[in-house]
Amino acid sequence: MASIHSSKTRPFASHHTVTPCTRTHQIGALALVIITFFLTRIFDQSFNSSSFSTPTSGQYRSKNDVVRFSDSGGSIFWPQRGYGTHLSLKIYVYDENEIDGLKHLLYGRDGKISPDSCVKGQWGTQVKIHKMLLQSRFRTRKKEEADLFFVPAYPKCVRVMGGLNDKEINQTYVKVLSQMPYFRLSGGRNHIFVFPSGAGAHLFKSWATYLNRSIILTPEGDHTDKRDTSAFNTWKDIIIPGNIDDGMTTHGSRIVEPLPLSKRKHLANYLGRAQGKVGRLRLIELSKQYPDKLECPELKFSGPDKLGRKEYFEHLRNAKFCLAPRGESSWTLRFYESFFVECVPVILSDQAELPFQNVIDYSQISIKWPSTHIGTELLDYLESIPDKDIEEMIARGQKIRCLFAYTPESDSCSAFNAIMWELQRKVRQFHQSSGTFWFHNRTIVNRNLVEFSKWKPPMPLP
Ligand SMILES: *[C@@H]1O[C@H](CO)[C@@H](O)[C@H](O)[C@H]1NC(C)=O
Ligand SMILES: *[C@@H]1O[C@H](CO)[C@@H](O)[C@H](O)[C@H]1NC(C)=O
Ligand SMILES: *[C@@H]1O[C@H](CO)[C@@H](O)[C@H](O)[C@H]1NC(C)=O
Repeated sequence: MASIHSSKTRPFASHHTVTPCTRTHQIGALALVIITFFLTRIFDQSFNSSSFSTPTSGQYRSKNDVVRFSDSGGSIFWPQRGYGTHLSLKIYVYDENEIDGLKHLLYGRDGKISPDSCVKGQWGTQVKIHKMLLQSRFRTRKKEEADLFFVPAYPKCVRVMGGLNDKEINQTYVKVLSQMPYFRLSGGRNHIFVFPSGAGAHLFKSWATYLNRSIILTPEGDHTDKRDTSAFNTWKDIIIPGNIDDGMTTHGSRIVEPLPLSKRKHLANYLGRAQGKVGRLRLIELSKQYPDKLECPELKFSGPDKLGRKEYFEHLRNAKFCLAPRGESSWTLRFYESFFVECVPVILSDQAELPFQNVIDYSQISIKWPSTHIGTELLDYLESIPDKDIEEMIARGQKIRCLFAYTPESDSCSAFNAIMWELQRKVRQFHQSSGTFWFHNRTIVNRNLVEFSKWKPPMPLP
């Protein structure tokens, strides 16, 4: 487990007022800082082997590694540059009672939508990440010491369940943000939002005005279908894995177990609706031509013949390759599910963005094929791949799939901890925005020279 430290090694990060102290105090304090620093290093070296960490000298990545693993196996290395040597971050989670309107974004205007119903399905990550942060060792209850701020909201679920309409979601977000002095202070740069559905941050209509500087966690790398503007920015946002059914990711007995390669009925499959999408329609056509190679069953996702979870995964595991064409947007959950039924995912979605690319080499565990070449050429190619190579890809996928599972924080290889590493890279010593100013004595003021501690909501935005 990565060690965390209560002492800040970033020397000028606090906003405390300075009380007078003697020279002895100063020297003492300095010595303490230096000692803490070295002790921290020593601890990290000794605990490295059992955790996620960054490489120490002498451990280099070989070209054949999917991810950087430590010599002892289990732990995954994050590149030291930009990530630090250990996880040490403090995240403040806004409380639903602290900010007027936040409850509506969580439970709808009447407060009737339960988080339990929002934790299921593709967008369940907005609930899971929130709940895990509340329990997390990275949580702080003091805003003054927070590196980052988490704004909890389940807008996708609330909207689907009729709890708020688009107009209300937009207005509620604006109202919520205007009550956050720290959001104003940084221009939103150290605030985290989760937008787990295909619409991404577009769910908040005026996101571009208010959230275009904030850190957005989303499985969605683009949204090129309806609008030309993407709410995802490679440099400030983080791609997160989709929400796979817990019954497939938990240790021990799973809903279905993978089949041996030789027992699989089909070369490839595609499980999903056509939704009028070109790539998907091509696949369905192709499966009619080659029914024993490619399975594209007509699946009912609602109504009386609705496919159960178990049957769904039973279908999915019955091919060597699981095809993941784009749908309404570029990402598909099937890509992540493939690793748990152990078929090799074939991405047929040109714009897809994948998570944790700083540690995972996707060419070793998946295939990406141009969506413009969906046809017999694709099936011929897949058929030409020897079983041995497929087995190897699957074996490498088994090693890293823990990074796609929202398992407890105590599992060092988990989606949650991987997201924490990515967030750590976003932490800054200082934040500025066009509406923030400061004096010689580090007093932060607004344009009217009012001190930060006296800023009163509603704050001017953005
Ligand atoms: C969102 O709400 C804000 C504040 O009420 C408003 O100024 C803005 O026009 C709204 N955006 C849309 C797209 O309706
Ligand atoms: C968001 O900010 C980026 C960088 O400042 C800018 O290029 C982009 O156009 C903005 N997006 C929108 C929709 O305003
Ligand atoms: C910092 O300087 C400003 C402007 O001179 C002054 O009003 C303020 O009281 C000072 N703050 C502290 C904490 O010394």
